[in-house]
Amino acid sequence: MARVRPTQPQNNGAGMKRLFIPRVLIVGIGLIGGSFACALKAAGVVGEVVGYSRRTTTLARALELGIIDRAETSIVDALADVDLVMLAAPIGSTRALLEAMKPALNGKTIVTDAGSVKGSVIEDVQQIFGRVPEWFVPGHPIAGAEKSGVEAADAKLYQDHKVILTPHGNTSAAALDLVCAAWRATGAEILLMDANHHDRVLAATSHLPHLLAFSLVDTLAKENENQEIFRYAAGGFRDFTRIASSDPTMWHDIFVANRDSVLGALDHFSRGLEAMRRAVEAQDSQALLGIMTRAKVARDHFTKMLAKRAYSHSMKAHNVTYTVQPGGSMNGTLRVPGDKSISHRSIMLGALADGITEVSGFLEGEDSLATLQTFRDMGVVIEGPNEGRVRIFGVGLRGLRAAPGALYLGNSGTSMRLLSGLLAGQAFDSTLTGDESLSHRPMGRVAKPLLQMGAVIATEPSGTPPIRITGRQRLRGIHYDMPMASAQVKSCVLLAGLYAEGETSVTEPAPTRDHTERMLRGFGYTVKTEGSTISLTGGGSLKATQIDVPADISSAAFFMVAASICPGADITLQHVGINPTRIGVINILRAMGGNIELSNEREVGGEPVADIRVCYAALKGIHIPEDQVPLAIDEFPALFIAAACAQGETVLTGAEELRVKESDRIQVMADGLNTLGVDAKPTPDGIIIRGGIIGGGEVYSHSDHRIAMSFTIAALRANDVIVIQDCANVMTSFPTFVSLATAAGIRLSVERHG
Ligand code: S3P
Repeated sequence: MARVRPTQPQNNGAGMKRLFIPRVLIVGIGLIGGSFACALKAAGVVGEVVGYSRRTTTLARALELGIIDRAETSIVDALADVDLVMLAAPIGSTRALLEAMKPALNGKTIVTDAGSVKGSVIEDVQQIFGRVPEWFVPGHPIAGAEKSGVEAADAKLYQDHKVILTPHGNTSAAALDLVCAAWRATGAEILLMDANHHDRVLAATSHLPHLLAFSLVDTLAKENENQEIFRYAAGGFRDFTRIASSDPTMWHDIFVANRDSVLGALDHFSRGLEAMRRAVEAQDSQALLGIMTRAKVARDHFTKMLAKRAYSHSMKAHNVTYTVQPGGSMNGTLRVPGDKSISHRSIMLGALADGITEVSGFLEGEDSLATLQTFRDMGVVIEGPNEGRVRIFGVGLRGLRAAPGALYLGNSGTSMRLLSGLLAGQAFDSTLTGDESLSHRPMGRVAKPLLQMGAVIATEPSGTPPIRITGRQRLRGIHYDMPMASAQVKSCVLLAGLYAEGETSVTEPAPTRDHTERMLRGFGYTVKTEGSTISLTGGGSLKATQIDVPADISSAAFFMVAASICPGADITLQHVGINPTRIGVINILRAMGGNIELSNEREVGGEPVADIRVCYAALKGIHIPEDQVPLAIDEFPALFIAAACAQGETVLTGAEELRVKESDRIQVMADGLNTLGVDAKPTPDGIIIRGGIIGGGEVYSHSDHRIAMSFTIAALRANDVIVIQDCANVMTSFPTFVSLATAAGIRLSVERHG
């Protein structure tokens, strides 16, 4: 095996041996092979780099540029005493090269390659050696440029790029380790994959786009008026066809070597293109917009992923820290973003309606965007959001299509619970997944009534996501006595009830937000509310409508508390939703002595709204009435800050639900308040907070948006700096929080890491 010996000093602090490869041979010194050599040299992990090429001019230039240390024109001489060979010649020449190398390979030299097709290379190796030898490690760096040749070699080419290795069952661990270590030294990230899978993926993502670019340029270049075409070809043509300047020999070899997968990708693409052609021919705007909005969203998402900004499953969100200076002020007139609960429901019902629903004031936060994306995934055309405006081309109650994969709902419990009900009635299967926090939240509470309705739905044994729903079930209406006051469970059952035979009814132990009922009525669906029981009958239809989403009282709550605790404060919050099932925060703050005035009360699209003026007031501690708990369920983290600034003790009971929100809000708030020197004692179903002086310190939001924002406003009354960790999720519900908070007078600065 190759000599991989540690160099001196071994000082990476982790006790790991530093890589050193005495001799590397590069076969084919173009962009790929040359860059590999340069990167190994730059990392100081190679002794001598030998270069082999059939062209003496290439060798001479590579020597001149310092890419190689020694040039060889005989492959057998080149292989003498080499530890690692990188085969980086066009893949059409692989078989002949291996044939020539065979007599000089002694089993100790490790060979890897950089070919864009793995199946054909493995086949070549098998042909020459009778089997895949243990020293062969098939590989493919996903990096390159339309430039080629030795001049294009770049030591940084692989930095932060992916390299796919497709080790064969025979490949030895030592060989794989060495190749991995070498690639890592170039700055690349390594992925292991099956060779066939690699070839199919690359056919779609790399080979097909190259083929299309070559074909488009050739087609246009053959036109008589090609001069004209190229003269007027602007950005679009340039961007789309950049890769048509790539090396024709190399791409010829790739298309031939990966023939079957390339044809598969091309046929699939042709069907998509044909569908688009038909849409243009028929002037079918809905089909065209559908294709293009889905493509745009996918491309935007990809752009963010490239910039490592994506909020996505596979990507750890950037860590965000808030640093808040003590003091500050709270003044002005502001409009917080749209209501999250109503935004979710506007997409869901708009998608299920017949006709086009227009929404304004939509919350462009990650939670409601997760719902929006889900419906796009299920084939609904949705334009926007564009400054809060969204147009949803409803597909009717039976018009959703199976999504291509699992539906990823990020941090959003509301999306997952409401969608469970809605999807239980569909004619296809669905899987619902979420982020770390959502993956720990209880879903048995929705699975239980749905199972009673005849749905086939499964959670993990712990009752947590993923949720797997088997479609094509006949749902029957049930009466469900909810064991807990939860608008999400109520809404889930009612949405499933749209698909059930007969009447579905829900009785709630205490009033919870009734946006689902109100909005269903707005879409022309009959929903009865008799006392605490809400019912509807399945089999109807929804008629598209217009929805004006009021500002979210749950976001306004941070500023209501902020103004209440900040001497001299006077703020007006405009157009805030004051649905009676949501105004617990106003009732509780008033009971504590808060100075809150409502004006301009009106009804917008079935929801009451008002402007809310809040001025500073000396607050006093109270025992919070338990009937207010469901009406202020999301506002307690902010209210705990009010309690910390109040005179005397504030006691909360009957609020065990807070323990299963985006975080355990009782424990996390108690921990943070204690860090800041406030006397806060968690109890199983609430908390006891004694008002007093708030100090400074470092607190953790546990990725819970409402915890992060609550500690931000606490700084208005703190006597030292408050640093809040894990604030990225503020984007789930309140994307403009930082700018509104600073405009109003909070001394907040934001730092992003990672
Ligand atoms: C919501 C209901 C509440 C609330 C959540 C949004 C809704 O949850 O906490 O932020 O939109 O229906 P529960 O129903 O679980 O109490």
